[in-house]
Amino acid sequence: MNESNTPYVCHILVCTNDRHGERPSCSDGMSPEIRDYLKEQVEKRGWKSRVRVSQTGCMGLCAKGPNLMLYPQGICYSGVTLSDADTILAKVAEFVK
Ligand code: FES
Repeated sequence: MNESNTPYVCHILVCTNDRHGERPSCSDGMSPEIRDYLKEQVEKRGWKSRVRVSQTGCMGLCAKGPNLMLYPQGICYSGVTLSDADTILAKVAEFVK
């Protein structure tokens, strides 16, 4: 095993857990579409080597979803909609400088 620092200044974690309506989950709020938009924007802005968008499983905040977190900044967004994505990208831009 090797240990090293993350190559990313910001890792955008998007919960895309889907419980298919059995219980609330982030996919109910179109989190896969939010993930896709963020990925597209990260590529378009030339951030790909410094910012990573990853989908995750449940973060334990399902009732507040869709949930998204920024690391290593430790920022959590809940109740995210596609129309919030550009605001989140503006926050990420502060770390990419
Ligand atoms: S389903 Fe997304 S936090 Fe639980």
